[in-house]
Amino acid sequence: MVKLAPSVLSADLSRLADQAALIEQGGADFVHLDVMDGAFVPNITFGGPVVRSLAGKTKLPFDVHLMIEHPELRIPDFVTPQTEYICVHQEACVHLHRVIQQIKALGIKAGAAINPATPVSALEPILGDLDMVLVMSVNPGFGGQKFIPSAMIKVSELDELRKSEELSFVIEVDGGVDLTNAPALKAVGADILVAGSAVFGAPDVPARIKEFKAVL
Ligand code: DX5
Ligand code: ZN
Repeated sequence: MVKLAPSVLSADLSRLADQAALIEQGGADFVHLDVMDGAFVPNITFGGPVVRSLAGKTKLPFDVHLMIEHPELRIPDFVTPQTEYICVHQEACVHLHRVIQQIKALGIKAGAAINPATPVSALEPILGDLDMVLVMSVNPGFGGQKFIPSAMIKVSELDELRKSEELSFVIEVDGGVDLTNAPALKAVGADILVAGSAVFGAPDVPARIKEFKAVL
C-alpha cells in the first residue's frame, strides 16, 4: 500500500499541532515538513525550532524536506525522536554523498530530492546510499501548483533501476498530487505520496485522507 505524507505547508501553521492531529486521525503515515529558506526557493516557511516543537504533539513520524542552501549546516536542527527521513536537494549540495552520510550518521534515513529539470541520472552513482528518492513534480517553493507529468517517467525509471540493481530506496513524489493522479503514481512505482492542498484544502481533512487511502 502506498503511504501518504500530508504537507502542512497548506495547513493553518498557527495551529500546527491541531493540524497534525487531524491528519493523524485520518490515518496519514507521515507528516511532511517543508523547510524553505527564501534562497534555494522563493519562500520562507519554518526551521528547526518549529519542527522540534512538534515532536511529542503527534505520533506521526516526520518526513523533513529541506529546500535550503547549505543543508549540511542545519541537519542536526531537524533531528527529533520522530524524524524518520531528512531529504536534501541534489541541486543544493556540492558534496551530496557526504551530506547523505551525515544524515545517516545521526541515525536518520536519508533522502535526495530532484527538481523537475534534474534528471534521475544525477543521482545514479549514489542510489545505493539512499533511503529515499524524492521526485519533485512541481518546482519547489509553493503549495497548490499543477502536477508536471514528466515526473511519472522519472518514477518508473527509478523503479526499474531499483529492480535491476536490487536497491531498496523508497520513491516519494511531491507536488500537485491529488486523488486523480495518485493511482497512476502508484502504478509506476511510487511508495510515498506527498499532498498539501489536496489534503488541507478539503472541507473534511480526515475524510480526504481516507479517500486517498481508498485509491491507494
Ligand atoms: C513544494 C513542497 C510540497 C508542497 C506540496 O515546494 O515541497 O511539499 O507543499 O503541496 P501541493 O500538494 O499543494 O502541491
Ligand atoms: Zn515537500
